[in-house]
Amino acid sequence: MPHLIRSHYDGDPEAAVRTALRQIQGTYGIAVLFADHPDMIIAARHGSPLVIGLGDGETVLASDPQAIVEFTRRVVYMDDREIAIITKDNVEVHRLAGGRVDSAVTVLDDDSYGVAELDGYPHFMLKEIHEQPESIGRCLRGRILTEEGHAKLGGFTMSPRDLLAFDRVTALGCGTSYHAGMTGAMAIEALARIPARAEIANEFRYKNPVILRDALFLAVSQSGETMDTLGAVQEVQVKGGEILGVVNVVGSTIARTCARGVYLHSGPEIAVASTKAFTSQITALLIFTLMLARTRSLSRAAGVKMAAELMDVPGKVTEYLANPGPIDEMVQAVVKARYVLFLGRGFSYPVALEGALKLKEIAYVPCEGYPAGEMKHGPIAMLEEGTPVIFIAPSDSHREKAISNMKEVKARGAHLFVIYTRGDEEIAEIADVGIPIPASADYVSPLLSVLPLQLLAYHVGVALERDIDKPRNLAKSVTVE
Ligand code: BG6
Repeated sequence: MPHLIRSHYDGDPEAAVRTALRQIQGTYGIAVLFADHPDMIIAARHGSPLVIGLGDGETVLASDPQAIVEFTRRVVYMDDREIAIITKDNVEVHRLAGGRVDSAVTVLDDDSYGVAELDGYPHFMLKEIHEQPESIGRCLRGRILTEEGHAKLGGFTMSPRDLLAFDRVTALGCGTSYHAGMTGAMAIEALARIPARAEIANEFRYKNPVILRDALFLAVSQSGETMDTLGAVQEVQVKGGEILGVVNVVGSTIARTCARGVYLHSGPEIAVASTKAFTSQITALLIFTLMLARTRSLSRAAGVKMAAELMDVPGKVTEYLANPGPIDEMVQAVVKARYVLFLGRGFSYPVALEGALKLKEIAYVPCEGYPAGEMKHGPIAMLEEGTPVIFIAPSDSHREKAISNMKEVKARGAHLFVIYTRGDEEIAEIADVGIPIPASADYVSPLLSVLPLQLLAYHVGVALERDIDKPRNLAKSVTVE
């Protein structure tokens, strides 16, 4: 690009950039500097995010507001096909196609943006794991009507009557957000009794999806900038579908494109591997499930019970983190493993996927997550003497089947670690090493059973001297395809 811009440069920086951008296909978020114009930056975006911070005698350009908060909280979000001419005390935004843009100035709120401090933790990932009681609490705050056994999400701006119009729900996301979407979809189908599923955004957007009038879509994203999820949002909108955002970063592109949605209020998540945003995404989806289910078959009494279950989560997360159990034994086995298998059934299946993703992201250990019932149709071949198998088996409706799967892997010599509900002595007996978690309803159990898996990935990563907060080859949000 600099060579193309150079080829059009005759002393007018803006004109050279404009001409070059007319010849470019694809997505970009660029800043252009000219040696003979040291007091100016030309910025342009199409697809990838750019935000401009309006400081006192200085102007800051960045791809994410988080990088700007230490300078100023007054920002201008650039939209697609815009170009900005930036000097230290002036910003002009124009459309590439021509015409000045009267950009709105947004003031970043404290809740979503703060100067990222480690607060004495060695890594942001460990800090964010321990922030989960508060972050889940913030996501619940003011949204659960415990007496009425109901819930409200102001940003959805949908009445119960509106919600009755939807007879199917699809969650869309990538990476950890996809796993949160899977958990949310399972809860919606189990409790609201309407068909629900999750789809990987980059597959969904290119399969020419069938969008039906009674279908509701949820775009799940921590950053709100993941290009594939944004593309899926635009595909649903082009086809006339209804899509709501479930997003952490306030003012992000997906949040602005969806126009309606729910913010997680997890606060800034700095570590590349998502932890607190994952549990907040599931919490937000469970709040939505309560709203939706109460417009369907969920009775007031059952609603009151579900509301109480949700309000108890922060306390149970605190309880587990205060006494995480023999994580170290699991770490010792996994650090030297050539392969690790994570297994779960029902609500624990997406947790098994998330556990494997975390161990790959943070520690680069070969592993996979699998539905336990499907294991005998393939991955069981990977098991040999001492292979670590991490089984997520809270006391839910899948318990009996899970026990027989555990016996199958033990029969192949696997080293069996089980995350189970405190007090379930039969399962504790079967496990080589048991990690007890507090008891809860099955739809809440992922918020607890994922915690030991986050800690496992973290400590294995530390033991293998990995770059915990900035793992190789990964980005906090992938703003390109
Ligand atoms: C990856 C991140 O780049 O994108 C993951 O490393 C994340 O942690 C995934 O789960 C999806 O990102 P987002 O921001 O859309 O939730």
